[in-house]
Amino acid sequence: DPLCFSGVWRFRDLLPFAPPSQVVTIGEGRTLLQKADKVGRSVGMDPGRLMLQYEGMNPSGSFKDNGMTAAFTHARMIGARRVACASTGNTSAALAVYCSATDFGFKAIIFIGSGKIAYGKLAQALDHGALTVQIVGDFDDAMSRVREVADRLGIYLMNSVNPFRLEGQKTIMYRVLEAMAWEVPDWIVVPGGNLGNSSAFGKAFIELVHLGLISRPPRLAVINAHGARTLHELYGSREIRWRDGLPDSDKVDAYYGELDAAGVKASTIASAIEINRPVNFKKCLRALEFCDGVVREVSDQQIMDAKAWVGAGGLGCEPASAASVAGARLLREEGVIAPSDRVVCILTGHQLKDPTATVAYHGADQENFEKVLGSRGVKRAGFANR
Ligand code: F0G
Repeated sequence: DPLCFSGVWRFRDLLPFAPPSQVVTIGEGRTLLQKADKVGRSVGMDPGRLMLQYEGMNPSGSFKDNGMTAAFTHARMIGARRVACASTGNTSAALAVYCSATDFGFKAIIFIGSGKIAYGKLAQALDHGALTVQIVGDFDDAMSRVREVADRLGIYLMNSVNPFRLEGQKTIMYRVLEAMAWEVPDWIVVPGGNLGNSSAFGKAFIELVHLGLISRPPRLAVINAHGARTLHELYGSREIRWRDGLPDSDKVDAYYGELDAAGVKASTIASAIEINRPVNFKKCLRALEFCDGVVREVSDQQIMDAKAWVGAGGLGCEPASAASVAGARLLREEGVIAPSDRVVCILTGHQLKDPTATVAYHGADQENFEKVLGSRGVKRAGFANR
């Protein structure tokens, strides 16, 4: 079975929209759940209780490949050729890889905000030959632009508004459960940007419970960056909930109106999640409802500190991914997560995606090197051991 080499399609019984002959795969989703006791100590967990689902191991270096394989399969099924996305970098990298690695005539068109994309990701788009358009504005602007253009010109849209993307991303949870022998963890902690993952995870759990494969969902924690905190603001402070399928859209519009009036743009070092108008907002509310979810926000400093813990623990991730670990730590401090809970944080993207942020962070340590060395001795001088 050639599809068994895909960590997405070996679960095809749970995403049954595609005939196997139509599947577009590049061997995505062969990712692992890693025990992370060192990181767990920094988070405040008992030994063996923190695990990291390492999606940076995907072919394009982020979790996006789980969704791309499904959306490309659908595009192939309907005969689409031109495929487009707006992106903070990883969606575009994955799109470019799937176009260049396959031979079905796909042409990649990418919209990015000006100066808003980490170099590792931009390099991927260019190296894989995608038509890359930089627009004036940020991701939210690029997103509305690509939706308009795709609509007008009949181009297949690969952002996570595309429901097939989310079908593929469900399998991240299947692999987590598989690695835990189908014992449900207490918590899944995931960064929130466009809210595709959190929505997909919720859908996965709704279906698994419905099918009787698990008896209850884990609790879901979605972590925003402080500078891109629409979900936290609306769910936390304004208590917007999933109600009979209809969230309070007046309140959502009012919030966006406030952002516009104040001229507020999303801003965080975690550029992957620098998003103020998440396209999957409603679906995410449904996931939070089903999974007894919580939403938190973390600062750039908390994100970068957590990223360094991950690095010191021998794995690696980009800033946005570390929001999950920073969020787990915050929830531990609040006592919402207990030290004995079984917690899975999703590392959404690879360490090498955004070297600039990493070097800038540790560069600050370098300046203090002599001071640290002088005052505390050699043992404390390690950069990673914060
Ligand atoms: N982590 C990484 C590394 C990402 O690239 C993204 C989203 C997220 C988390 C947020 O995931 O949207 O499912 O809530 N990146 C998109 C992009 C927006 O264009 O690459 P989400």
